[in-house]
Amino acid sequence: MKLLVVKDKFIPHGRISLIGDKSIAHRALIIGALSCNKTIIKNFPIHDDSLATLSTLDALGVKIKRNKNQVLVWGIQGLRKPRKPVFVNNSGTTLRLILGVLAGTDFETKLIAGKYLSARPMSRVDKPLRLMGARISAKKRGAEEYPPLVVRGGKLKGIVYRLPVASAQVKSAILLAGLSALGKTRVIEKIRTRDHTERMLKTFGANITVNKNSITLNPDRKLKSPGIIYIPGDISSAAFLAVLAVIIPGSKIVIERVSLNPSRCGIFNVLKRMGAKIKVVPFKNKRGQNFEPMGDLIVSSGKLKHVVVKPAEIPSLIDELPVFMVAACFAEGKTVIKGAGELRFKETDRIKSMVTNLISMGADIRSVKSGGLENIIINGKGLLNGAKLRSFGDHRTAMSMVVAALAAKGSSRLDDISCISKSFPGFLTTLRSLLR
Ligand code: S3P
Repeated sequence: MKLLVVKDKFIPHGRISLIGDKSIAHRALIIGALSCNKTIIKNFPIHDDSLATLSTLDALGVKIKRNKNQVLVWGIQGLRKPRKPVFVNNSGTTLRLILGVLAGTDFETKLIAGKYLSARPMSRVDKPLRLMGARISAKKRGAEEYPPLVVRGGKLKGIVYRLPVASAQVKSAILLAGLSALGKTRVIEKIRTRDHTERMLKTFGANITVNKNSITLNPDRKLKSPGIIYIPGDISSAAFLAVLAVIIPGSKIVIERVSLNPSRCGIFNVLKRMGAKIKVVPFKNKRGQNFEPMGDLIVSSGKLKHVVVKPAEIPSLIDELPVFMVAACFAEGKTVIKGAGELRFKETDRIKSMVTNLISMGADIRSVKSGGLENIIINGKGLLNGAKLRSFGDHRTAMSMVVAALAAKGSSRLDDISCISKSFPGFLTTLRSLLR
């Protein structure tokens, strides 16, 4: 347990580049492991979640070699029954995506999770995989299922599935299972979620087509690696630094080579609507980034006005909503985030964690249920006060509160920041590098 005390305000200035995007890294590893040749993954991020996917694949017999931020994955020999239960730590993406892969194997695997992931719902992914023919047993509490899970792979058949929740993890698990199913698999989304799996599968030569909200996978082609995959900087990590630069007067930062995937850019679209000064400079040289767009972000401070975030936008900034709530406290007027209920099912209940912390800093923030949606209402005061803060064991709550504390009047204490290693171990070092 680590305690962080933030005393002084600072004005961020400078140029930074970030480790690779977490979501893309999981997919590069998993799909690389399923292909018939070698993949070199560059700018691979090293944190708890990416290491969880790495060690899971290692336990399943995949040959992987890592040298700093470069990973070599051999997808030649197929997966093998693990010798013991596989621990996926607290990485929800690892667990849900690998479940889709294991659904089509001919052996049994037990997947166990860390404390936080063990409390997160799994029936959303178990259900469609069972419809495809997978045999999955899980810990039950009421109508919901939780890790540990035992998956007995088998012969799968393709399905047509309408996602009841907007979840890229569930969509990806179904598509990955579809690779070893008989016949086509189609996933239909109400609201489009991040499309990294679709892009990565296409890059590896899969027969996958996207038509508006409908994704169809035909498993008639072998996956073949393009050889090298460069992972652009993590847009979710960039969001903490961008919000900091937007809300602290006098700031100006450049974040280089960030992922600009449109299905992830919600935070920047919404901040720009609030009047934030964010300039996007797309990479001109398209070589090596054929599957995921990237570019530089130039962010400087400016006045913010209130905004309404619509339900259809939520998946494009779901992980950035905690830090967005901090930005909204510094905006003028009433900001409404509509349909944010999925935040309750993340590493912690992020509505509770953020509302509790921001209220203790003097914010006017509340959640309201209306018309089947959960909305968050923030009346911006242009100011927060230092306070005693809690991370709730959640990396994104912790980093959002560091941002809030740096912009607040007076000093703050944050109880535990060890969770930051889940996605951005270099967060504090990066912040320090922006000190003038
Ligand atoms: C992710 C999808 C999102 C997101 C998570 C990463 C992914 O989860 O919150 O951090 O990589 O597919 P859901 O699919 O549960 O919305």
